[in-house]
Amino acid sequence: MLKLEDHIRLIPDYPKPGIQFRDITPLLANRVAFNIAIDKIVSEVTHEGLDAVAGIDARGFIFGAAVASALGLGFIPIRKSGKLPGNVISESYDLEYGQDTLEISIDDVEAGQRVLLIDDLIATGGTALAALKLLKRCELDVVGASFVVDLPSLGGSKKIIEQGTAVSSLIS
Ligand code: PRP
Ligand code: HPA
Repeated sequence: MLKLEDHIRLIPDYPKPGIQFRDITPLLANRVAFNIAIDKIVSEVTHEGLDAVAGIDARGFIFGAAVASALGLGFIPIRKSGKLPGNVISESYDLEYGQDTLEISIDDVEAGQRVLLIDDLIATGGTALAALKLLKRCELDVVGASFVVDLPSLGGSKKIIEQGTAVSSLIS
């Protein structure tokens, strides 16, 4: 039986010394592992009346768009700054290995939409918390957050749960 964790590669000292980087590229490249991951995320979606899936730039787009398509839903891209044209709002945050800013296009969402947030991995939770803030500022109802990999020792998933959002992950 295939184990998803066998398709995550550990890269020491990437992108900075001291970071143990979990690389999802082998999982993406393996058709069985990738499709199992998508099917599992989809099968764990129990939220009633979901309107859309939101995914975080860049690796969250890979899983988020596939899950949105499997559920027959649209996709809301939460992008790194300077990539979305039109009217955007921004949130800056700290990462394990730097700082960044996320943006959402406010003209392409509607207040009250029920949304599932997806990313490939949660570590410190800075990225997912910034995405959650953007979705909430748009008055969207974030019914859950799904990740392929959770690194619980870095505390991110706990922070999301403390915000009142249910978290699920395939590999912990
Ligand atoms: C990685 C990963 C998550 C985030 C997790 O993205 O894909 O989005 O870091 O870290 P955190 O929980 O500590 O915030 P990265 O910013 O490296 O961007 P990428 O997807 O464009 O490679
Ligand atoms: N792998 C991929 N992305 C990450 C990691 C990691 O270990 N830590 C923070 N973002």
